Amino acid sequence: MPKIEQIHAREVFDSRGKPTVEVEIRCAGSRAGRAIVPSGASTGRFEACELRDGDPNRFGGNGVLRAVGHVNHEIAAALTGMDAADQQSIDRALCDLDGTENKSRLGANAILGVSLAAAHAAAEAKQLPLWKHFAQLWQTAAADLGQLPQQTSALGQQPIMPLPMVNMISGGLHAGRNLDFQDYLILPVGATSYHEALEWIITIYHRLGRLLTEKGYEGVLVGDEGGYGPKLTSNVQAVELVIEAIEACGRKPGTDVAIGLDVASSHFYDGTHYRLAATGDERLNSGDVIDLLEKWVSAYPIVSIEDGLAEDDWEGWQELTRRLGDRAQLIGDDLFVTNRRRLEKGLELAAGNSVLIKVNQIGTVWETFETLRLALQNGFWPVVSARSGETEDHTIADLAVATAAGQIKIGSIARSERLVKYNQLLRLEEQVGHDAYQGGRIFSALKS
Ligand code: PGA
Ligand code: ZN
Repeated sequence: MPKIEQIHAREVFDSRGKPTVEVEIRCAGSRAGRAIVPSGASTGRFEACELRDGDPNRFGGNGVLRAVGHVNHEIAAALTGMDAADQQSIDRALCDLDGTENKSRLGANAILGVSLAAAHAAAEAKQLPLWKHFAQLWQTAAADLGQLPQQTSALGQQPIMPLPMVNMISGGLHAGRNLDFQDYLILPVGATSYHEALEWIITIYHRLGRLLTEKGYEGVLVGDEGGYGPKLTSNVQAVELVIEAIEACGRKPGTDVAIGLDVASSHFYDGTHYRLAATGDERLNSGDVIDLLEKWVSAYPIVSIEDGLAEDDWEGWQELTRRLGDRAQLIGDDLFVTNRRRLEKGLELAAGNSVLIKVNQIGTVWETFETLRLALQNGFWPVVSARSGETEDHTIADLAVATAAGQIKIGSIARSERLVKYNQLLRLEEQVGHDAYQGGRIFSALKS
């Protein structure tokens, strides 16, 4: 058993230059494992609590020295001597030590840093690549988290390469509110391998950049996740430009490359109305937003819609799912916040058919597994996702492959905190094998 000998945390900085927590864990006789915690901007209200210092004299209150202190003292004292490879016990000990519902005492950033670093440390001690260690954890988790439906799909079974869902144009909180919707993405559903998918994506991204410049749009600079942030006159224009770029690269929209949206609507919902600024101060209710999305799904090859409605609008989500659930993947991000209980409610109410999986929304590896497994057991598509504030940490790429989640969403293909994950996936593809790619086949249940 790889016994934890040392736990050490420090304050480092993410892709927005914001402080975050890095943790190193070393087991007896092996090298340390290290992880860095990501951070969102368009965060859901029900996410686990990211502990910030609140000291206005340091980084506008955003310092994380309290979280770092919790790791170096209380958590280190409690976890030293434990088996780093026993992720379930480590994560349970962290939750028990914290004692709150949303990890607000020690901080979900402190807890996640330790949970992820323990996985890295265990992989080091077992001399396994991280994805293989995660795959072992995931396979043995069946004993505690239940089996998956037998072979109805490749999802959740043996490790597979994920279909990337990639941001081309950014809006919302990630690009100064130039557009209401946050991400206009592409899914290379017709590619036959991960590296082919990536080649298509990169070609389309560069073509789109040229197209925006040729058309004279201001703001071809990139947003927080590396997507272009042009000032357009309407939300739908972004969809049309992405389609134009796909076609200009000789790819067929829909069959080769489909469109995805992250509406991130909680962030323009005022409690009663969805307020669209790009087209004047348009005020829509849930039904209007559903009508709009239905119109778009009929007019454009849109296969995936995230947070089409707000995090509290359960009734709206039910209606959205009734109307579009057999034609598009409807992902709950702010709605489910990777939280098993919120996903259970979604399953009960038939709200959505897919869940975004962000490790820092829930705060431990094991709880992430729980939510992922619950999704797969109920035929929901899981999408492993990065945050808008990221770092050189590639853990989620390994996690997506090991759990056979089927999809990954890590932003655009510019900026190294994104590329570190895409490039890691290229390395993993060599180990997992090119055949281990489902691509767009995972959407065979959808009517085209
Ligand atoms: P966030 O954005 O990390 O700022 O929350 C990502 C997303 O909404 O999917
Ligand atoms: Zn989102």
